[in-house]
Amino acid sequence: MTQNDDPAEFILPGLLYGGDYNPDQWAEEVWLEDVRLMQAAGVNCVSLAIFSWAKLEPQPGQYDFGWLDRVIDLLHAHGIRIFLATATASPPPWFSRQYPESLPVDGNGLRYKQGSRQHYCPNSESYREGAARLAGRMAQRYGSHPAVLMWHVNNEYACHVYECYCDRCRDTFRGWLQARYTTLDALNDAWGTDFWSQRYGQWAEIALPNRTLTFVNPSQMLDYRRFMNASILALFRGEIEAIRGAGAVQPLFTNMVYGIRWLDQFEWARYADYTALDSYPDPSLGEQAWQTVAFAYDVMRSAKRGKPFLLLEQATTQVNWRTINQLKPPGMMRTLSYQALARGADSVMFFQWRQSKAGAEKFHSAMVPHGGADGSRIFAEVSQLGAEIKRLSALLDTRVPAEVGLLYSFENVWALEIDSKPAHIEAQEAILPWHDALVTASLPVDIVHPDMDFSGYRVLIAPLLYQLTADQADRLRRFVQSGGTLVMSYFSGIADERDHLCQGGYPAFLREVLGLRVDEWQPLLPGQTARFQDCGGRLADALHWVDLLHLDGAELLAHYQGGFIDGRPAITRHRFGAGHAFYVGTRPEAAYLRDLLVGICVDNGIHRLLGAAPGVEASLRVGDGERYLFIINHLQTTQSVDLLGKRGIDLITQTQIGDRLLLEPYGVRLVRLQF
Ligand code: GLA
Ligand code: ZN
Repeated sequence: MTQNDDPAEFILPGLLYGGDYNPDQWAEEVWLEDVRLMQAAGVNCVSLAIFSWAKLEPQPGQYDFGWLDRVIDLLHAHGIRIFLATATASPPPWFSRQYPESLPVDGNGLRYKQGSRQHYCPNSESYREGAARLAGRMAQRYGSHPAVLMWHVNNEYACHVYECYCDRCRDTFRGWLQARYTTLDALNDAWGTDFWSQRYGQWAEIALPNRTLTFVNPSQMLDYRRFMNASILALFRGEIEAIRGAGAVQPLFTNMVYGIRWLDQFEWARYADYTALDSYPDPSLGEQAWQTVAFAYDVMRSAKRGKPFLLLEQATTQVNWRTINQLKPPGMMRTLSYQALARGADSVMFFQWRQSKAGAEKFHSAMVPHGGADGSRIFAEVSQLGAEIKRLSALLDTRVPAEVGLLYSFENVWALEIDSKPAHIEAQEAILPWHDALVTASLPVDIVHPDMDFSGYRVLIAPLLYQLTADQADRLRRFVQSGGTLVMSYFSGIADERDHLCQGGYPAFLREVLGLRVDEWQPLLPGQTARFQDCGGRLADALHWVDLLHLDGAELLAHYQGGFIDGRPAITRHRFGAGHAFYVGTRPEAAYLRDLLVGICVDNGIHRLLGAAPGVEASLRVGDGERYLFIINHLQTTQSVDLLGKRGIDLITQTQIGDRLLLEPYGVRLVRLQF
């Protein structure tokens, strides 16, 4: 094992393959079959003890590590590495009884009960201490065990509890605000409390933003989102301190919930040695399922500035928490696994190893189904993939280069989704089409926080970047001035970090860079479209939103047709310094948006990895002077793929691949490119 004292220098022993392992749900005889089957399936790593608090600390302060010692030794003897959980994700019944105030409170002021999981208030002192104590005990006991590869801290923070409205949270919120604003005057100013007579004269007058008769103060709501993110982050940091305080040196991570939105991934990534994602695209979306998760992978990779992330959980086939849970048809689990590797994962793992026979997840799929491994389609697919991944160790620690950045921040998502806007906006639904346009055109893209360094990118795309601070805008201006290309969409650059709107026409800080001014907008109704035509004569539909623009130096690229907006600009370009700033005042229909962004990339010398092939994903990983091209057919039909002159050896089949390729349904190639 390569395990250094400094987690920053740690290198994984290979690509990891495995899943959550819950041996505490099974008799010890089953463990022996488990390790034998794990070896057969190519499993080399499991995540252990995630929900084991009640078994490890059955009574307050009384620990039972015997069973865990035995399981760890058994795994070790079979060469299986361990992500050891701190076991803090679900406090046992005695805990909730002893500390009833540790249970969270909902927006109606009702306290939740124990009986499922994650039932803790993010600001509960007793939970914070209890979790840190257990994490510390685990680290003390297993901090130098050679089988323990990393610490799996807690589990899916904010999956169920991302807000709490208890008195403890209220008091902590007041303290957090005092630290942020120092004076009430500053807070009153930031929250714009002169509106609706909300001016505060005492810190004790400030409440949590729930149970108001109509719109709550949006600046207050935004601060509450920040506060909850900070509160939950403090729990994570508390466990980290306990682990490090006990002298454990293994790297650590926490796995993020699918649909990551309540936690600022860019901030959290600073405290984790690896970012990790639980990925559950809905198989019933069929040929679109993969597109819904590409974004989350790009966030995981980008949040750690390109370092490979962990795919910690996915389902072998169906989940049990949607209204209707469809299975993954044969082949789909494999393509979705390769997708994660393609976008920068160094592990492929599942929830869970053995399907539970009782409890709330007994109908959730696993690597070993209820019927056993023998004759199981699922176990056969799991084993085939395990065998393939063993041969791909060259990928380890390679990077996914991108010259296009999509500007994105979690604060912006929170701000966009606060009510009282011109229209209710589902941020992900509105932003994802811009990412999708690049992904479906095989153009690699990073997700870039607007505070990050832009210098590695030639093109930056800013979809619905509603919140933009003066400093971020200034850095964007310099990016364009020195030769970069910015593509900004409607409803961008509208508000600052306090959710105050800047005066003088939108997008306030960037009017000069874009060479235009927006003074009105028309959000479109569901199903309603507008029509626009570009200077090449192409007609397309405009969706979601129409900005009313006034040009002030920008060049017209497309204009609306029909209605009162007839002739008004839809898409513009402005030369600014050595660069260009595009403005797209609507969401063009998917095909148009893709062509537009591809064209802008090509003009900047950035080329797609493959010729157009619907449903085929491509990505590149590079390292040690080698380039590995992933080509993944997400469709159930054969696709003809143009490699645009690239060729090389497919690492999976060991065959030579030329410029053109017929890719079978759910086919995957991983080509080591010849230069
Ligand atoms: C999450 C959790 C797991 C399990 C799966 C089911 O990802 O981390 O414990 O509940 O969902 O999909
Ligand atoms: Zn609370």
